[in-house]
Amino acid sequence: MKIIAYGIRDDEKPYLEQWSKDKGIEVKAVAELLDDSTVDQAKGYDGAVVYQQKPYTAEVLDKLASFGIKSLSLRNVGVDNIDADAIKRNGIKVTNVPAYSPSAIAELTVTQLMRLLRKTNTFDRKIAHGDLRWAPDIADELDQMTVGVIATGRIGRKAINIYRGFGAKIVAYDIYHNPELEKEGIYVDTLDELYAQADVISLHSPATKENEHMLDDAAFNKMKDGVFILNPARGTLIDTDALIRALDSGKVAGAALDVYEDEVGIFNTDFGSFDAIPDERLKNLIKRENVLVTPHIAFYTKTAAKNMVQFALNSNVNLIEKGTDDSEVKF
Ligand code: COI
Repeated sequence: MKIIAYGIRDDEKPYLEQWSKDKGIEVKAVAELLDDSTVDQAKGYDGAVVYQQKPYTAEVLDKLASFGIKSLSLRNVGVDNIDADAIKRNGIKVTNVPAYSPSAIAELTVTQLMRLLRKTNTFDRKIAHGDLRWAPDIADELDQMTVGVIATGRIGRKAINIYRGFGAKIVAYDIYHNPELEKEGIYVDTLDELYAQADVISLHSPATKENEHMLDDAAFNKMKDGVFILNPARGTLIDTDALIRALDSGKVAGAALDVYEDEVGIFNTDFGSFDAIPDERLKNLIKRENVLVTPHIAFYTKTAAKNMVQFALNSNVNLIEKGTDDSEVKF
């Protein structure tokens, strides 16, 4: 059996090599992403392991299938960049890694919330200029706040546990109710109810057509004044222009964004200087003291990198050998 792995970063290589040695299975590591210029390298392999945020196009998927590759294992969770019709048409089986490390995402989310509440960005800037005064930057305490968690999958539940450690009250919204959380009575029936109650909104939903721009002008208007918004999930959940308006009006007191709707091709790139970042809207957000932008790094921990590589390779082997895997994604 031979597997090709695309988009392998240097920090992933040791985990890939260790797995290959332990299993005695050949894995070719390719640094480039899977696209029409690299797909031909997959000829002769039995399966492909991939990770990328740019689209997996119909042309590329058709080509993989024409090489007999019907086993595609993603190293990440999200499947929103895959052409579902091409997957179905070609009978390609796809797996993802649904739980490489829910803690990685939840920990960054809460870290950023604490930074917003304690205004560390403001104090860092003041201190850098020799201003060591307290006022007017008095903080809020999470212990006194209600956090509205949207989507209670593995990451949302991990975040809930951490918020609870700080003493926060939780309200949650999800179309699927987790039985344990259901017993605790934390679910509200509508997003409007969550917006009305939450001091902090913590987004943990996958991106779907239905929830694109879930947080738009209308949604922000239904929220409490001075709400904090946390998005470590998917950029498309927030209408960025509406968020900017809500920040300008003070409706939103602060936002932590690890994702951004136009991030592909921008995040994880070195532009050499702030001015050279080719996205004015993003720069507008980054410049604000009450907005914390990180370039989709919530997942980027050693535990997650190891699990993403090794779980995806295990799933790929299962697809190749048995035609199925527990992490198979249904399109
Ligand atoms: C995912 O797993 O879907 C992510 O968003 C993390 C990705 C940037 C590796």
